[in-house]
Amino acid sequence: MDINSLTQSVQFKIEHFKVVTSTNTLAKQRLSQGEAYEGLVLLTNKQTEGRGQLNSVWESSAGENIMCSVILIPTFLPLVQQTYLNMAICLAMFDTINKYASNVYIKWPNDIYINNKKVAGLLLENAIQGNTIKYSIAGIGINVNQQKFNIDKATSLSTQTNTNYILLDLLNELLNNINNRYGQLKLKQWLAIFNEYHKHLLGLNKLLTFKTQNEQFEGTILGVNTHGQLQVKRGDEVLNFGVKEISML
Ligand code: BTN
Repeated sequence: MDINSLTQSVQFKIEHFKVVTSTNTLAKQRLSQGEAYEGLVLLTNKQTEGRGQLNSVWESSAGENIMCSVILIPTFLPLVQQTYLNMAICLAMFDTINKYASNVYIKWPNDIYINNKKVAGLLLENAIQGNTIKYSIAGIGINVNQQKFNIDKATSLSTQTNTNYILLDLLNELLNNINNRYGQLKLKQWLAIFNEYHKHLLGLNKLLTFKTQNEQFEGTILGVNTHGQLQVKRGDEVLNFGVKEISML
């Protein structure tokens, strides 16, 4: 790999749609047809089958929010470091929202919260080839101007700050932040990414109630390990949990 490809910024190109099933699904189709490249951003006003983590549905009202997928080709990133890509994109989302709101946190693994309510989520879908990531689709949903939600825990930037935002301006800021954080990754600044992610991690070092498939218990979040698992101290034990194995109450 030559040094230029490590220092060059990502050239983003936005394709804007009125309605799609899911920008992540569309991105996958484009990639399988060889019609996608690093920096391609698929943006839509509306999704009919918006997807969230753990097979959940992502609901977002038409024309009021950011719903996009950013294609990245992080071939420079060893597979064992892929957690840092997740952290880097979360930080870019955090940077974007934190400029306008206070009390902003990253909720493990990749949600953004304001005042204990979810404002944004990331669905990162990686395709693996050998020891590297062949491509990565960063599906980002940010609730921006929406005022009413069916879910109690959901909020928008506008609701939290009493301001209306221009979606394309915010998207440009997000892309700029992705470029900066991705640049940090290229330069192998993993520790900086790791530390910053933890600096803004919701519930760090706090005694909280958790739920696993079998039980409910109290524990303290110690952090996220390099495999992306949540480390929780329960009594004298330190336990590691994958995304599907635990939820915070
Ligand atoms: C989550 O919090 O569970 C992740 C939500 C990710 C939603 C975005 S919206 C754009 C992209 N397309 C999708 O179908 N999902 C992501």
